[in-house]
Amino acid sequence: MNPFSLQNKTILITGASSGIGRSCSVECSKSGANLILIARNEEELKKTVSLLDPDSKAEVIIADIVNAENLEELIAEKVSILGKISGFIHCAGIEKTLPLKKHNSTLYNDIFAVNVIAGFELAKILSLKKYKSEVASFVFISSVAGLVGEIGKTAYSASKGAVISGARSIAMELSRSNIRVNSISPAMVNTPILNKMFEDVGEESSQEILKKHPLGIGEPEDVANACVFLLSDAAKWITGSNLVVDGGYSAH
Ligand SMILES: NC(=O)c1ccc[n+]([C@@H]2O[C@H](COP(=O)([O-])OP(=O)(O)OC[C@H]3O[C@@H](n4cnc5c(N)ncnc54)[C@H](OP(=O)(O)O)[C@@H]3O)[C@@H](O)[C@H]2O)c1
Repeated sequence: MNPFSLQNKTILITGASSGIGRSCSVECSKSGANLILIARNEEELKKTVSLLDPDSKAEVIIADIVNAENLEELIAEKVSILGKISGFIHCAGIEKTLPLKKHNSTLYNDIFAVNVIAGFELAKILSLKKYKSEVASFVFISSVAGLVGEIGKTAYSASKGAVISGARSIAMELSRSNIRVNSISPAMVNTPILNKMFEDVGEESSQEILKKHPLGIGEPEDVANACVFLLSDAAKWITGSNLVVDGGYSAH
């Protein structure tokens, strides 16, 4: 069997209604996985489902991952349909670019709630024997902002740094349950989050950011393909790592 295949695996993906999460859904389906897709926007999630490989089965959960009280029940229902979870991608995320003087505790809390806490709480649920298959792989989407400083990104960078370090500790704890845990740090990728950020920082700063990418801005599938690799058996000896997928951004 091709070690890069996701055949016979059920993968749960947050943030599947847009950008990188949508692309992860499409690439995982092309690699043979069945999918449980989570986001709030039903219409956009349906659009993602329409883009999947026709041989792949998909179930959707329309939920706010921060506030949904019955998320575990909803996941249990989908697992009973598609089978136990072999893979998890936490791709849901929010970004704000604001000067430090405009940061406040609400902003920190909102960003951490989605980017960090919701992902780790889901990992807690998915690591339970009743939901996980024999062997599993969890991937958290961090950012290069979790590795290098960027103006206006205090809360966002802090959340993405927390994703990398928290994922490492989860990797240590869950290795005994045969769960590998890694993160991915992309630089700028062509998605709605990026377009919004360019609007926030203005034309001049946007051009500067673009220049910092030796290989140019990434496409969502550049990150999705790295996810497929980490979810596959080809990565069976990789855990506790952060894979930088950044077109050379952090090599400066
Ligand atoms: N694009 C980049 O340049 C870039 C670079 C580095 C890292 N990243 C990271 O990559 C991830 C995906 O980014 P993207 O560019 O694809 O973003 P995006 O297009 O804005 O998509 C964000 C996704 O998160 C979901 N989401 C946000 N809050 C949620 C909540 N409370 N409950 C459920 N779902 C929620 C959204 O779904 P709904 O609105 O439907 O709920 C959407 O599917 C993020 O973690 C981001 O920080 C992006």
